[in-house]
Amino acid sequence: MTADAPDSLDVPSPVSWPRRVADLVLRPPVEADLDGVLRWRRLPEVTRWLLRTEVDEVAMRDRLRGPRDPHDHSCVVLLGDDPVGMGYLEVVDGMGQDGESAYRRTEGLLGWNLAPQVWGRGYGTMVARELVAIAFGELRLRRVTAGCFAHNAASWKVMEKVGMRREQHGVRDSWHAELGWVDGFTYAMLRDEWDGVAGR
Ligand SMILES: CC(C)(COP(=O)(O)OP(=O)(O)OC[C@H]1O[C@@H](n2cnc3c(N)ncnc32)[C@H](O)[C@@H]1OP(=O)(O)O)[C@@H](O)C(=O)NCCC(=O)NCCS
Repeated sequence: MTADAPDSLDVPSPVSWPRRVADLVLRPPVEADLDGVLRWRRLPEVTRWLLRTEVDEVAMRDRLRGPRDPHDHSCVVLLGDDPVGMGYLEVVDGMGQDGESAYRRTEGLLGWNLAPQVWGRGYGTMVARELVAIAFGELRLRRVTAGCFAHNAASWKVMEKVGMRREQHGVRDSWHAELGWVDGFTYAMLRDEWDGVAGR
């Protein structure tokens, strides 16, 4: 991403897809993934700690069909031919950056959802680690962040396992459809912290 790159919906992705991680393949989603994703994305155990508990099929189809926002580097996670997860990576402005100039964006917002049948195999950690690698590698971002409900231990453990720091514990700052106002966590990582992660 360069300072004078055009802000167009048609710029090719700077990320080289597909990415292989153990027996998973990560690649940009396509419309044909919709049915496979919807098989698990609406399950109550998946939506329990998500901000978006409802899935609008038409909106999701449109999103998968494209054109893709050049700042959206989200991916589908395949196990064999099965879309068993989604990884999210959106490039945004850091605090105080000039929102008028899209190519000053230096932060990545991360997220992940997996189908319950593949939970507990380390896949969540693998997907998160790959998103962080894309953010600091090809996208050359300065910082990544991710948020979750404090109750969502599976998600914040994933963040800690990839080396992100808990930067904020928001006391009753997050609205949960069933529980009302509950605590939320924000995690972050800087590029130099990623460079220093052991074993890299
Ligand atoms: C969050 C999610 C992606 C984690 O995926 P996963 O593949 O099960 O994660 P991993 O196997 O890499 O496990 C990561 C860590 O979390 C722990 N963990 C997993 N599920 C847990 C749970 N329900 N409670 C507490 N810890 C849990 C694992 O034991 C592991 O820690 P350990 O290595 O110290 O044992 C998955 O649970 C999910 O998709 N949940 C529903 C959607 C969601 O909440 N997305 C995140 C929104 S912020």
